[in-house]
Amino acid sequence: MNIQLSALAAHHPASRHGAAPALANLSLGIATGEHVAVIGPSGAGKTTMLQVLACALPPSQGEFLLNNTPPWSLPAAALRQLRGTLFLAPQVPPLPPRQRVVTSVLAGRLPAMGLLQSLRSLFYPADIPAAYDALDRFDLAEKLFERVDRLSGGERQRVGLARTLLAPAKLWLIDEPLSALDPARARQALETLLDAARDRQTTVVATLHQVDMALAHFPRIIGLRDGALMFDLPSQAVSREVLAKLYDQYEHELRGDVSGGDAEVNYPDSPAPVQAVMHCR
Ligand SMILES: Nc1ncnc2c1ncn2[C@@H]1O[C@H](COP(=O)(O)OP(=O)(O)OP(=O)(O)O)[C@@H](O)[C@H]1O
Ligand SMILES: [Mg+2]
Repeated sequence: MNIQLSALAAHHPASRHGAAPALANLSLGIATGEHVAVIGPSGAGKTTMLQVLACALPPSQGEFLLNNTPPWSLPAAALRQLRGTLFLAPQVPPLPPRQRVVTSVLAGRLPAMGLLQSLRSLFYPADIPAAYDALDRFDLAEKLFERVDRLSGGERQRVGLARTLLAPAKLWLIDEPLSALDPARARQALETLLDAARDRQTTVVATLHQVDMALAHFPRIIGLRDGALMFDLPSQAVSREVLAKLYDQYEHELRGDVSGGDAEVNYPDSPAPVQAVMHCR
C-alpha cells in the first residue's frame, strides 16, 4: 500500500480550540513495501501521524491518499473495507484483562472480518495453530492459553506484536513496539516483524524512541518535531548533527549509555561510534 501526504495538517480531537495542530504542513510519500521509522521528541506528533495513516483521525487540511485514493472521500462501506487492510498497533495493546492470549492474538484478524465472523471468533478461537506459530516467533508459545492479565508488560507487548503478525493488512502502523522490551528482545522482535513484512510486501511505518534501533533496522528515517517534518533521510544519512538538532533542548531524552544496546550504529560523518541511545520515557 502506498501513501501520499501533501501539506497535511491534523488536530487532536481533544485539543483546545485554536491550539496548534499536532501535525502541520506535512508532505511525504511512502511506496508499497517500504519500511519507515518515525522518530522525534515526545509530543512531536508521531502517534498522531499513525492515527491519520490508519484513517482514525481525519486531516484538518491538505491531502491524504492511500493507494492513490483519498480515504475520507470514500463511501462508509468502502472506508470500512479500506480500514480492514490497515493495522494500527498501539503502544499499549488493548488486551481485555480476562482474555486468553490465543484470543488476543487472533484478534489481529478482526479488522478484516465481518461482524458475525468476528463475534464467533471471540468465543471459538478459529485458528489456534496460527496463534501458536505467531507467539512462538516472539518466544511466547507457552503462554497460548494464559490470561493476558497474568503477563508481564513486556510479554503483553509481545502478544500485541504477535497479533500484528496475524493481521492480513497491507499497511502496518506500529506505535513504539519496543518500549517494554530489553534490547536483545527488542532487536529480535523487530527483526521478526520486519522479516514478516518483507515476505508479504507489507508497508511498515513504526514510531520508535530507540533511535539506535531505528537506524539499524529501517532504511528510511523520518524526523518529526512540533508536528513538522524536520528530515526525511536514508538511515545512513542521519548524522549525529541531524539528531542533535531534532532533539535540541530535549537532551534529557538522550541517555549517554550504549552498553545495554545491541545495535551497532554507524554515522557517515561521525568517525567515532555514537554514544547515545534515545528514550523519551
Ligand atoms: N489527548 C490529547 N489531548 C489534546 N491534545 C493532544 C492529546 N494527545 C496529543 N495531543 C497533541 O498532539 C501533539 C502530538 O502528540 P502525539 O501523541 O502525536 O506525540 P508523540 O510524538 O507520539 O509523543 P510521544 O513520544 O510522547 O508518544 C501533542 O503535543 C499535543 O499537542
Ligand atoms: Mg506517541
